[in-house]
Amino acid sequence: MSEKILVTGGTGYIGSHTVVELIQQGYEVEILDNLFNSKITVLDKIEKLTGVKPKFYKVDMLDMPAMEKVFAENTYDAVIHFAGLKAVGESVEQPLRYYENNVTGTINLLKCMKEHGTKKIIFSSSATVYGDQGVEELNEEMTTGVGVTNPYGWTKAMIEQIMKDVALADPEFEVVLLRYFNPVGAHPSGLLGEDPNDKPNNLMPIVMKVATGEIPELSVFGDDYDTPDGTCIRDYIHVIDLAKGHIAAIRGLKPGVEIYNLGSGKGTSVLEMIAAFDKASGKKLPYKIVGRRAGDLAAMWANPGKAERELGWKTELTIDDAMRDTLNYLDSHSDV
Ligand code: WQD
Repeated sequence: MSEKILVTGGTGYIGSHTVVELIQQGYEVEILDNLFNSKITVLDKIEKLTGVKPKFYKVDMLDMPAMEKVFAENTYDAVIHFAGLKAVGESVEQPLRYYENNVTGTINLLKCMKEHGTKKIIFSSSATVYGDQGVEELNEEMTTGVGVTNPYGWTKAMIEQIMKDVALADPEFEVVLLRYFNPVGAHPSGLLGEDPNDKPNNLMPIVMKVATGEIPELSVFGDDYDTPDGTCIRDYIHVIDLAKGHIAAIRGLKPGVEIYNLGSGKGTSVLEMIAAFDKASGKKLPYKIVGRRAGDLAAMWANPGKAERELGWKTELTIDDAMRDTLNYLDSHSDV
C-alpha cells in the first residue's frame, strides 16, 4: 500500500513538478488548489507524464468546511504544503490579504490535519526568512525572522514558527521546513513550467515574457552593487532538483522539526543569468539597467550541506540545464 500524500498548491509551478516526482516514486497523490495562480490543465500534463491523473479538489484554504470535507473523506499519510500567495511586491501593497491567505490558510490546514490524525507535513518555506544576515552564505542555524523585508517573507517566517509550536505541543507531529532559494527551469518534457496567472515578479518568468515579446525588454534592477559585475547574486535551483528535494524530505520525516536549505550553494548574477539565457537561445535578450529594487540584497546563496548530509540530497542540474528546459517549455507553449 503506497503512502497517500495531499499536495496543497499542487497545480502550481513547484507543486506540479513535485507531484510528478512523487507519482514516479510510487506515492499516491491528491491535489488541493484554488487555481488562483495555476491552471486545471496542469492535471492533464501530469497524467501525460505519469499515466496518473491525481484526484483534484478545487478548494481554498480559507474555506474551512470544504477543506474539512477533504480530510473527512481521506486518510493522508502526509501533506506537502505549497499553497500560498508569493509575490513579494504585491505583499507590500496588500499585507492583510497575504497574512490571511498564507497564515490563516495554513492554520486551517493544520487544524484539519490534527483533527484527522495526519501529523506529517513538509512546508514550502523560503530563503526570504533569513532577511539580511550580513553574510552571503546562509545556513539553517541562523536566526530568522529578523529584518525580513516584506509581508510575504513574514508569512513564511510566521508559518515556520507556528509549525515549530505545533510540533512542540504535539510530539507526534513530524515537520520539515524547506527553505527554497530561487527556483528556475521547467520539466525537460516541455509540458510543465512556470506559468503564473498573475503578473510575475521573479526574474525568470519576466525573462520568459521578454523572450516571447510580451515585454519589450528586461529591466535589470541595479548594476552598482558590491558584486563582481555589479548586479545581484542569487542561488538559482532547477525546479526538478527542488522537486526531488521533497522526496528526500518525505523520507527524512521524523518526530519534531527539521529545517533544510534547498539550493545549489552557488551564486549567479543577473547579468550571468542573461548571458546563460542568450547562450541557450542563440539570441541577445534585450535589457536595460535601471535603479535598484527596494529590499533587494546584493548577494545570497545557500549552504546546502545539511540536506546533503542528512537527506542525501544535492542539486544535480545547472543553470544551463534550466535555461535549456525553460526555452523548451516556451517552444512547447506558444500561449505562454
Ligand atoms: C532575483 C534577482 C532582482 C526581476 C524572491 C523571493 C524569494 C523567492 C524567490 C519564493 C534580483 C533581479 C528581478 C526583474 C531584475 N520566492 N531582477 N529584474 O528577489 O531573489 O527572491 O523570489 O519563494 O522568497 O524573495 O527573486 O527573481 O525577484 O529576483 O533585475 O525584472 O533578479 O533584483 O537581484 P528574489 P527575484
